Amino acid sequence: MSGGMHLGGIDLTTETIRTARLVLRPFRPDDVDAVFAACQDPEIPRWIAAVGVPYTREDAAAFVLGEAPGQRREGTGLTVAVEADGELVGASGVQRIGQHPIGPEVGYWITPRARGRGYAAEAAHALADWAIGLGAPRVYLVADVANTGSQTVAVQAGFHREGVLRSYLHYRDGRRADAALFSRLPGD
Ligand SMILES: CC(C)(COP(=O)(O)OP(=O)(O)OC[C@H]1O[C@@H](n2cnc3c(N)ncnc32)[C@H](O)[C@@H]1OP(=O)(O)O)[C@@H](O)C(=O)NCCC(=O)NCCS
Repeated sequence: MSGGMHLGGIDLTTETIRTARLVLRPFRPDDVDAVFAACQDPEIPRWIAAVGVPYTREDAAAFVLGEAPGQRREGTGLTVAVEADGELVGASGVQRIGQHPIGPEVGYWITPRARGRGYAAEAAHALADWAIGLGAPRVYLVADVANTGSQTVAVQAGFHREGVLRSYLHYRDGRRADAALFSRLPGD
């Protein structure tokens, strides 16, 4: 497979990763309400181009029931529900598996009430390890140059800043923004 990852023998539809505090598991239909509620927080559409305002229950259902399992079925992405103490505290994922030499890409959001505990870095670190363990020669992530919190998370997850992608981000409300590009390599 291009992109250096070897998924042979792995069933992505059920793939679950455990860290010290988190379970990174497939989304389930009963996650729709939690995703809908979390994505009402303005910080999520502010920094995540795929989330618009308004974000409806149908949008949450399309993500949880359609997009996330679809990527797993097709082998193009491992989108995970981030669970701590049995509760959904966020979403994260490895996207663009085998689709581009720059990838795969890691992303994340954490629900407002679960922030401040380092969960995003713990999830991103584990997902990058997972991709590298399957042979990815590099894993990247992008964060808006103004998104200081996400850039701190990237460094805490073992990523190194590579540079700036000018006008890379295109948000649903029409804004464009420069993105800081980070990567993790097998030796990092
Ligand atoms: C970015 C986000 C995922 C971080 O969530 P989190 O895992 O709870 O992160 P934490 O609050 O534990 O913060 C991790 C570190 O970043 C720092 N940080 C967090 N927000 C910050 C901010 N707005 N400004 C500066 N530093 C910030 C914290 O101080 C912490 O550093 P420390 O360990 O040295 O104290 C969360 O704020 C979020 O979901 N934001 C909206 C969506 C988003 O931006 N996603 C990323 C898109 S690239």
